[in-house]
Amino acid sequence: MQKPRVLVLGGCGFIGRNLVSYLVKENLTSAIRIVDKVPPQVAWLNKIHQDYLNNPIVEFRSANLINPESCKNAFASDAAWDFVVNCAGETKGSQTDPIYYEGILKLSLNCSKEAAQAKVKHYVELSCGNMNSSEKVPLKEDGPTEPWTNVAKFKAMVEKELREVPDLRFTVLRLPIVYGSSDRGSIVQRIMVAGIYRKLGETMKLLWNSGIKLNTVHVEDVCRAIWFVLNRDDTIGEIYNVVDTANSTQGSISELLEELFDIKIDYYGTVLSAMVDLANAADEANDKHLDPWAKACRQDDIQNTPLSPHMDAEVLLNKHLNLDGAKLKNLGFELKFPNPSAQLFKNIIDEYVEMKVYPVSLAP
Ligand SMILES: NC(=O)c1ccc[n+]([C@@H]2O[C@H](COP(=O)([O-])OP(=O)(O)OC[C@H]3O[C@@H](n4cnc5c(N)ncnc54)[C@H](O)[C@@H]3O)[C@@H](O)[C@H]2O)c1
Repeated sequence: MQKPRVLVLGGCGFIGRNLVSYLVKENLTSAIRIVDKVPPQVAWLNKIHQDYLNNPIVEFRSANLINPESCKNAFASDAAWDFVVNCAGETKGSQTDPIYYEGILKLSLNCSKEAAQAKVKHYVELSCGNMNSSEKVPLKEDGPTEPWTNVAKFKAMVEKELREVPDLRFTVLRLPIVYGSSDRGSIVQRIMVAGIYRKLGETMKLLWNSGIKLNTVHVEDVCRAIWFVLNRDDTIGEIYNVVDTANSTQGSISELLEELFDIKIDYYGTVLSAMVDLANAADEANDKHLDPWAKACRQDDIQNTPLSPHMDAEVLLNKHLNLDGAKLKNLGFELKFPNPSAQLFKNIIDEYVEMKVYPVSLAP
C-alpha cells in the first residue's frame, strides 16, 4: 500500500520544519507538500532541516492561508492528500485582536474547510495549553476554558469552530512550551538572558517565584504525537494535551540554566511582583538585555540573526501552564524526552552558534 501523502501547513516554522524532517527521516510518507508564506530559503533553516526539506518527496508551495483563494491553491493537487497538519498561524505576542482574528481564527477555518472539502482522512490542528491556569490541578482536555494569552483566546475559538465544519475528521493537540532544534520561543529567550547575566556577572532575578508552572514538551515528541494521532480513527473529534512528565516550573527551568551557565537565579516573590506594572517591567528588562545582546553580536561578528532576547509582557504573567497528559498516554503514546535537560537546551544554542546567528560569548 502507498504511504500517505501529507500536507504540512506552516511547514517552514519551528514545529512544521521539525515535522517535515521527522516524516522524511522516518520514511513515513510518499509525498509531502509544505505550505507557508515564508519560503524555505529565507526561513533560517539549519543544515539538517535544509537537507530534509530538499528531499525529492518534499515540495514547497507559497500561500497566504488567510486568503481563501490562496488557501484553495495550497490544497490543489492531482492526487488526494491523506493527512493535513496545520502548524501555521500567528504566533507573535503583543499583536492586536484583528491580527489574531485573521492569523489564527480565519486561517484555521479556511484550512479546515478546505481539508473537509478535499475529504482528507485526518486533519490535525495545533492549539495551545494556556486554556486555564491552576497551580494545583493539571488541566484536563475537558476542563473549564479561560484562556489567558491572546493567542489562546483565538485558539479556543478555533477549537470550538472546528466542530461546526461539516465532514471534518480532525484532532486537536494542545501544546505547552515546545523546545528543541530551531526553537525561537520563550525557552530560548530565557537561555539568552541567562547568558547575558553570566556576562554581566549579576544574579538573574525573575518575577513571582520558582513554583510557577511552565510545562514543556520536546519538539520531536510533538512530531511523534502528530503522527501517532494521524494514524488512528479513535482520536477524531477529540482534544489531547501533549506534555512531558517533568512537570516543569519556572524553578526547574532556572535550575537547568544555573547548571548551564554557572549563574545564580533568584525571584522577587509574589508580594513585590504583584506591585509591578508588567508592561513596564518587560520594557525595562528588554532595555537591559538588548544592549549586551547587540554588543555581543557585534563583538562576535554576528551580522544578521532572527534571534532576539526580547520578551513579551505575557511571558511575565503570574499564570500556570499546567497540563495533564494522561489522555494521550492512555492511548499508548510514549514520550521519547520525558524531561528537558541542560544538554537538550545546549543543543539548541550549539546549532545557532554553528549557523553564526548566536554570539559564542553568550553561549553555554
Ligand atoms: N512553539 C510553541 O511553543 C507552541 C506552543 C503552543 C502552541 N503552538 C502552536 O503550534 C503552531 C506552530 O507553532 P510554531 O512554534 O511552529 O510557530 P512558528 O511561528 O515558528 O511557525 C508558524 C509558521 O506559520 C507560517 N504562517 C503564519 N501565518 C501564515 C499565513 N497567513 N499563511 C501561510 N503561512 C503562515 C509562518 O510563516 C511560520 O512558518 C502554532 O499554531 C502555535 O500557536 C506552539
